[in-house]
Amino acid sequence: MAKRTIVAMPGDGIGRVVLEETIRVLNAAGFEADYVEGDIGWEFWKTEGNPLPDRTLDLIEEHKIALFGAITSKPKDAAFDALSPELQEKGLVYSSPIVGLRQHFGLDICMRPCRSYKGNPLNFIKRGVGDAIEEPMVDTVIFRQNTEGLYGGVEWSDPPEKVYDALMTHPKFVKNFSKTPKEELSVSTRIFTKKATERILRAAFEHAKNYGYKNVTVCEKPNVIRETSGMMYKMAQEIQKADYPNIELWNTNIDAQMMWLTKNPQNYGIIVAGNMFGDIVSDGFAGLIGGLGFACSAQFNPDSGIGVFEPTHGSAPKYADYKTSIVNPIAMIESACMMLDYINENDLAKKIRKAVAEVIAEGKVRSYDMMKMAGRPDVIERGAASTQQMADAVIEKL
Ligand code: NAI
Ligand code: MG
Repeated sequence: MAKRTIVAMPGDGIGRVVLEETIRVLNAAGFEADYVEGDIGWEFWKTEGNPLPDRTLDLIEEHKIALFGAITSKPKDAAFDALSPELQEKGLVYSSPIVGLRQHFGLDICMRPCRSYKGNPLNFIKRGVGDAIEEPMVDTVIFRQNTEGLYGGVEWSDPPEKVYDALMTHPKFVKNFSKTPKEELSVSTRIFTKKATERILRAAFEHAKNYGYKNVTVCEKPNVIRETSGMMYKMAQEIQKADYPNIELWNTNIDAQMMWLTKNPQNYGIIVAGNMFGDIVSDGFAGLIGGLGFACSAQFNPDSGIGVFEPTHGSAPKYADYKTSIVNPIAMIESACMMLDYINENDLAKKIRKAVAEVIAEGKVRSYDMMKMAGRPDVIERGAASTQQMADAVIEKL
């Protein structure tokens, strides 16, 4: 096995502890790699006026694969106040380094698997026939377009004349909005390109094919958002017909999907959606399998091969300074397994997932979220496992 270099970006808050514990697990599993630390996050905003320094971009460009903990972001005013005094005169504007990473490297494919572990006390349960309790096992992978759509950032309040004039060429704008003064308008656009839409759809179908999923669901709203959602669904139909005839193509609306995911979550294999609906539906599914302590993700660019692997949770600042860390490292460990799959170390990924599954099924070592406790420093003395103990338990199984 050739030795790799992985860019390890702890970021802020609990990002560091979950990443450190995950690297311990990777080492114990026999993954041979060197780790170089990549600077990212609030600290670098405060001291350098840039939460995503160029040296970090260079490291990722060079080594291609990065593990990322989490960062802290704050609103505009708070970001300005946090800047060191000599930087405050420079007119710097804070923008999220996560969005920055996506845009810089064109990480347009975001993948968020949501799989239930047997024995996880946080698994979704529901009533079945009579008084029966059912625990549907979820195995759904959400593919979210990561760079366009409503999060593409093309938006205005009090739009410039040219934009306003363009809007006035649309009969629906004239009918519904032309009586509103321009200064009272806020406009956010939802732009889809054929290229990016095809890439996310193909990534979804390809994953279904490679991992044996029987259906791909486009989760949008084509009956109302006719142009963008409509285009995505139509392209999905064409791609399915031409290249994936053995995989079923389903079509759900995002609102209905949020209802169905508690009715029959076990039926959905791959879900593919634009940026915002993908964000929403993946949080919905994550809730069924244990929430933020379990939700992992990957973002990558199939052309360059650059991939960044991270838990979906944030920096949870209120837990960051606990003497003994209480947060669940599983979301970060699972994200590292996604990295291993991505670099074709599938056996190692399988081995770690099996160890995690055994720890969860056994139920002897559980972090505070799995014990359904409120997160406080005393959870450890009340029987919850620390972040380190969770990682130790996984390592012992390995
Ligand atoms: P958060 O995800 O950091 O924490 C929300 C709550 O979820 C925590 O208080 C805790 O109860 C629970 N939680 C999170 N991670 C957990 C874990 N590993 N184990 C057990 N419980 C866990 O979201 P919040 O509080 O809204 O944001 C905090 C900061 O993180 C903000 O500055 C925000 O901008 C940033 N953020 C960063 C993200 C990223 O780096 N990808 C994503 C979301 C938020
Ligand atoms: Mg989200």
